[in-house]
Amino acid sequence: PHPDMSKARLALGDGGPLVVLTGAGMSAESGVPTFRDSRTGLWARHDPADLATPEAWDRDRDSVWAWYRWRERLVGCAEPNAGHLAIARAARDRSVTVVTQNVDDLHERAGSAGVHHLHGSLFAHRCDECGAPMEVGPPPADPVDRLAPPDCPRCGGRARPGVVWFGEMLPRQPWDAAVSAISAATAVLVVGTSGLVHPAASLPGIAVDLGIPVVEVNPDPSGLTDGVTVHLRDTAAAVLPTLLAP
Ligand code: APR
Repeated sequence: PHPDMSKARLALGDGGPLVVLTGAGMSAESGVPTFRDSRTGLWARHDPADLATPEAWDRDRDSVWAWYRWRERLVGCAEPNAGHLAIARAARDRSVTVVTQNVDDLHERAGSAGVHHLHGSLFAHRCDECGAPMEVGPPPADPVDRLAPPDCPRCGGRARPGVVWFGEMLPRQPWDAAVSAISAATAVLVVGTSGLVHPAASLPGIAVDLGIPVVEVNPDPSGLTDGVTVHLRDTAAAVLPTLLAP
């Protein structure tokens, strides 16, 4: 058993509202690569920090669109892991609010409801001009280097990924929901984020400043580790089923 497990379970308490803040490490054991510590396949040729920007979109729309459709395909082939399932199950025993930086749908597919996506979603395509949500059909079966985004049926603009790029404003609703959920929480669990990208990285600090216990699950130290109550140095799938067990 993990030496800090009982301390972490004590910190999370057993009743009050829990906020779970997740990052790319949450989906690592589902086979979805994280941003800053692994490169696989087509991903190796693209650095997310280069492509996930308005400049990349303006410079080479077809390759950015192709990359995002390939990421949808990757997520579609992945399965929620034991960590996602443990978080979804915990909501049977207490109020659980999931706030994620991830753009995949693995929390939803594990059964979590009302997930707040701070950085948008791979599956929320919209028109780049009029902003209308757009249906764009399934991603191509094989990775392609370039693909033209479809035209908007309403205004003649073009589809764009429904994700937040570096330098873009976060959508207000998930951010406000995250802040109010943290303010009302009796514990916060942070899983699989390097704590390097703001403003998401400032959310755990809100809990710390309010004296709310914060537990971190991450095999490595992160930008948040110094401030948390307990750091379980292990992976999501390895410890969340025990940490969140009733
Ligand atoms: N379980 C838990 N944590 C893990 C696991 C795992 N199996 N594997 C890796 N990690 C940890 C890593 O140690 C790292 O601290 O997950 C973290 C992943 O960090 P990042 O790749 O930086 O992902 P994230 O923090 O979510 O990035 C934030 O940056 O690229 C932008 O918008 C993008 O939402 C993303 C944001």
